[in-house]
Amino acid sequence: MAAVPVLRIEGLTTELRSSKAARVLAVDDVTFDLYAGETLGLVGESGSGKSLTCLSILRLIPATVGKVAAGHVMLEGKDLLALPEEDMRAVRGRRISIILQDPMTSLNPVLRIGDQVGEAIGLYRALKGKPLRTAVIEALRAMRIPAPAERVDVYPHQMSGGMRQRVGAAIGMAGPPAVLIADEPTTALDATVQAQFLTLLKDVQRQTGLAILFVTHDFGIVASLCDRVAVMYAGRIVELAPVAELFERPRHPYTEALLRSVPDLEADVERLYSIDGHPPALDALPKGCSFAPRCPLASEVCRERKPPRVETGAGHWAECWKLVENVG
Ligand SMILES: Nc1ncnc2c1ncn2[C@@H]1O[C@H](COP(=O)(O)OP(=O)(O)O)[C@@H](O)[C@H]1O
Ligand SMILES: [Mg+2]
Repeated sequence: MAAVPVLRIEGLTTELRSSKAARVLAVDDVTFDLYAGETLGLVGESGSGKSLTCLSILRLIPATVGKVAAGHVMLEGKDLLALPEEDMRAVRGRRISIILQDPMTSLNPVLRIGDQVGEAIGLYRALKGKPLRTAVIEALRAMRIPAPAERVDVYPHQMSGGMRQRVGAAIGMAGPPAVLIADEPTTALDATVQAQFLTLLKDVQRQTGLAILFVTHDFGIVASLCDRVAVMYAGRIVELAPVAELFERPRHPYTEALLRSVPDLEADVERLYSIDGHPPALDALPKGCSFAPRCPLASEVCRERKPPRVETGAGHWAECWKLVENVG
């Protein structure tokens, strides 16, 4: 792991547009580093703010949804949040890119695959005509799309979900970027196709030193793919640790509950999380720890005051009063 992170997120905070007077934070003081060649998993129940974190990093939050209110997104030493939109457009897709759960929503249904991948490659490399087509075929081949010379001319609906996701990855890798954000890219794929896609990502990473932020529901994927894991709850990262350490010594009661709720790593995604109770509404967060109403260990201080971030080991921290001596 390099000493300087390729991506450094500091205090990233995103407000939802809200009719109410009080600010509603969907992303609350999110802070982490991402190093070249590593994969950081981002886990948490649905609605915890994983996708809005990704979109905030890329400055892709629609104005109708909300806005980034504070923080820094340092990519290769530049603060993306401070860039004029024009400069941001030169970075987005090129140095930092995103692949989504369902590429059907990001691919244009009426354009051939080759034209869409070609558009991305053409943006970053001065190629046209035959040389561009050759580069597109190479990009499809690099994502292990069989018969790439024929596939360039098909439309998205003529491909399987797994192949479409590889096209999404070919577009994401066109830069090629230093950082790839993958927001549940394999959730819609069946287990075999999913495993093939993850192997592909790992191989690409090994060859390019790509840093990956990988959002997933699935602790099986975390175990096989990630170096470190960040656990999100109600807009905050409540625990961050190297992957083996998180599995062996979870320090936040929420992480423990998540891990306990995994019946079997092969199990159905929908059944993975089954913790009692529900995440709190973001516009009505508890006064103290957001997890306190569901936490079996919660005491008075947890209900009254926000917990501090406590370092519990090398590269391991969690936000919990139980980690503070002589409190609660
Ligand atoms: N387009 C949107 N409009 C309004 N609220 C949204 C929108 N997208 C997400 N939110 C809210 O922001 C919070 C975080 O959502 P999201 O980042 O999508 O969670 P996750 O990806 O972890 O499932 C949720 O409470 C959700 O209701
Ligand atoms: Mg999401």
